[in-house]
Amino acid sequence: MNKPLRIAVAGLGTVGGGVASVLLTRGKELEERAGRTLDLVGVSARDKSKNRAANVSKIAWENDACALAKSDADVIVELIGGEEGIAYDLVKSALLAKKHVVTANKALLAYHGAELAALAEENNVALKFEAAAAGGIPIVKALRESLIAYGIDSVRGILNGTCNYILTQMEATGQSFADVLKDAQKLGYAEADPTLDVGGGDTAHKLAVLSALAFGVTPNLKSMKIEGIEHITPDDIRFAREFGYRIKLLGLARKRGDHIDQRVQPAMVKLATPLADVEGPFNAVVANAGEAGPFFFEGRGAGEAPTAGAVIADLVDIARGSFGAPFGRPAKRLTRNDTQPGPRSCAFYLRFEVLDVPGVLAEIAGRLSESEVSIESMIQRGRAPGEPVAIVMITHESVETSVASALKAIAASAKVVAKPCMIPMESR
Ligand code: NAP
Ligand code: HSE
Repeated sequence: MNKPLRIAVAGLGTVGGGVASVLLTRGKELEERAGRTLDLVGVSARDKSKNRAANVSKIAWENDACALAKSDADVIVELIGGEEGIAYDLVKSALLAKKHVVTANKALLAYHGAELAALAEENNVALKFEAAAAGGIPIVKALRESLIAYGIDSVRGILNGTCNYILTQMEATGQSFADVLKDAQKLGYAEADPTLDVGGGDTAHKLAVLSALAFGVTPNLKSMKIEGIEHITPDDIRFAREFGYRIKLLGLARKRGDHIDQRVQPAMVKLATPLADVEGPFNAVVANAGEAGPFFFEGRGAGEAPTAGAVIADLVDIARGSFGAPFGRPAKRLTRNDTQPGPRSCAFYLRFEVLDVPGVLAEIAGRLSESEVSIESMIQRGRAPGEPVAIVMITHESVETSVASALKAIAASAKVVAKPCMIPMESR
């Protein structure tokens, strides 16, 4: 019989509580799968007196999570969060102490992934992070191992459960952005700081991890364009439907020559395509794997069970001795991808909030025409007398920078009462 794998879990919140609970209640099944027992031997969190999802009263408790790196555990599971501070210190000291590490911390990986991967390789231990991108979807394993034969051309997806939940609920109930965000927080989907979710930062962290796995680039946020969903209104969601689209926050990474174009932005996705049908806190990823073609993955991207499940899968891999370079290539070979993506060419959805006065439409059309942006279709909806009206347009394929410069000129008009909204239309 192989000796037990000794596991210490730091952080007993949504994810850590779930991991501890599975380890304590599903030991027999895990042993069958892993070929050895998975023993929970240590835990740490801030407040020992808190009620937890798992009864950890018989497990050794450490007030200082970093002390776990000096314990006799074989694996440290970091489920505290944050790119610096205790999470970084714990993971680094655990790797230096030749302990395997499992983490769900995409922020940590986005900022320090290359350095930590190099440390894991030098110390011949695992650094595994299936839960860090798209929660329960096994996309890390897929990009690291399963889809490598023909290379990856692009990865795009819905990577933030909170944003997808908010956009879905806004469409279904007409509730405001702020009310739906509160629900997402109560349900345990949102980050401790929810601006990371709604501002696109969390999607960017996950995209950085997926890009590193798919393309062999160092995780790097500086090379990304990042936009969130805070400015999306119920009007945009309704108009999108009228045009046959749905708004989704997408993370997109694709090869452009030697460069990997990476961006996070709300996009119009055609109804009845797989990404448009992804609802609530679900995530989805489309990976274009060269001649092997596109693969579509969908599943729960946030919440206790899916995320804890992904952590357990990593632990079972470690128990079996199955791990390699964290990003699938030696960390020293990861290449830098420092430049921001250039302007994209596609159709755009535009919304203007304007005074309902003569000449306003002509002024908008004139500015767009000066920038060589051609209009494909348009909707104008009247409101109560005296209230601003929304003018909404879809352009023909246009260069992003031309549209942006026309919008800047339009925004300066006295007839335009709010910053115009511009959302790219995804062609597939
Ligand atoms: P959470 O519910 O806020 O839990 C955080 C845990 O860390 C709590 O148990 C907290 O202790 C503990 N903690 C905080 N500071 C600590 C310190 N200095 N020393 C020891 N423990 C400390 O967070 P979570 O949602 O489980 O997320 C954990 C990680 O998983 C994050 O990196 C997150 O991005 C990632 N993740 C989360 C999800 C999700 O659906 N929630 C999905 C994928 C990835 P107390 O309980 O005593 O306050
Ligand atoms: N806050 C994240 C989300 C948790 O909403 O997707 C999962 O990483």
